[in-house]
Amino acid sequence: MTLALGVLVSGTGTNLGAILDAIASGCLDAEVKLVVSNRAGVGGLDKAKAAGVAAHVLSHREHASREAYDAALVAALRAAGVEWVVMAGFMRVVTPVLLDAFTDRVVNIHPALLPSFPGVDAQRQALEHRVKVSGCTVHFVDAGVDSGPIIAQATVPVLDDDDRDRLAARILEKEHALLVDALVALAEGRVTIEPRRDDGARRRVVVERRSP
Ligand code: GRF
Repeated sequence: MTLALGVLVSGTGTNLGAILDAIASGCLDAEVKLVVSNRAGVGGLDKAKAAGVAAHVLSHREHASREAYDAALVAALRAAGVEWVVMAGFMRVVTPVLLDAFTDRVVNIHPALLPSFPGVDAQRQALEHRVKVSGCTVHFVDAGVDSGPIIAQATVPVLDDDDRDRLAARILEKEHALLVDALVALAEGRVTIEPRRDDGARRRVVVERRSP
C-alpha cells in the first residue's frame, strides 16, 4: 500500500531527505503529503520545498499547551490526507491528542539503542557512559519518552577518540537506512505489533523478512 506520510521535523531534516530519496528512487511506496516543522528556517523545510512537498511551520510558541499544539497538528495532518506520522528529528514530546488520532501509526527515529539513552542528546549520553556500541532505534511512539514498541535497531561502534559530533554522524548515517527500511516494511505490510498489554510491558513488534 502507498503510505500517506506526514513527516515532522525540527532541524536539518536529513531523515526526511532519506525518505524523499527512497520515494524518488522507487524503493519506498509512499507519498509525503505534508512536512511540519515546529521551527522556521530549518533545513527540513528547504528539503520539502526542493521536493515540491507541502510544508507547514507550526510554532509551539503559538499554542497554550502541548495538547493544543497537537490538536492543531492533527488538523493539519488530517487536512493533508496523512495516514502515518513520522517524527524525523522532531524535538517535541507528543501527547495522546496526536497518538489517539493516529493509533499505532506514529513512528520515531532515535539516535541510540533504546531503552538505553532516551531523551535528548543520546549521543552524548553514550559517550559519558563509555559504551563500546551504540546505534539507533525506529519505534512506534507512545505517551512516554522514547518508550514505545521497537520496530528495528542498528548498531555502530563507539571509538575511543570519538567526540559527540563524530559519533552522531556515524549514527545518523545508519538512521537513514534504518528508517527507510522500516517504512518499506510498513508499506509492504510486513510489520505486526502485538495487541495492547495490561501489564504495561513494551509490546512486541515482528517485522517479517522480505520474501525473495
Ligand atoms: C537525528 O540524530 C535524529 O535521530 C534526532 O535528530 C537528529 C537530526 O535528524 N532526533 P534530522 O537530520 O533532522 O533528520
